[in-house]
Amino acid sequence: MRNIILTGFMGTGKSTVGRLVAAKLQREFIDMDTLIEQREGRAITQIFAESGEPYFRQLEANLCRELAAQSELVIATGGGALVPEANLRVMEESGLVICLDCEPDTLWQRIGQSKNRPMLADQDEERFARLQTLLEQRAPAYTRIEHHLDVTYLTLEEAAKRIYEWANDE
Ligand code: S3P
Repeated sequence: MRNIILTGFMGTGKSTVGRLVAAKLQREFIDMDTLIEQREGRAITQIFAESGEPYFRQLEANLCRELAAQSELVIATGGGALVPEANLRVMEESGLVICLDCEPDTLWQRIGQSKNRPMLADQDEERFARLQTLLEQRAPAYTRIEHHLDVTYLTLEEAAKRIYEWANDE
């Protein structure tokens, strides 16, 4: 059975939805950020602060290849993990990649106050602008992904149900 890989911007619900989908399908769930934190013994914010973003991106690239070599997993990636096209191709070969999309205002409600999002940096008045800029920068990479689900008006349970049905139709 092929993997199911959920990706998309921070705050779209990848981890929560992925966990629900895995439970419905009785499959193992892997959250890439959590696995990286466990292996490194430090939080993502700490990894960014102490070792820099390129180091984190290399960990992500390596982990994509490691997980793509397995099967039957439900995987939630970090929001930037499949931005490099090579990482996307590797994951696409291993399974169904679905990008969760969401309107900026809703994302802001969900992650505007988040303290563990180094890509949004400080909680100052520029934060919403940074979120919008990052969304624009990411748009070409997310557009490359074949399958999308807009979760702006869906509950996490509804999103999980759609993906579960999708996986069953495969
Ligand atoms: C990132 C998203 C985060 C995490 C890291 C970088 C990004 O994951 O991997 O902070 O570049 O978009 P979530 O999308 O789960 O917040």
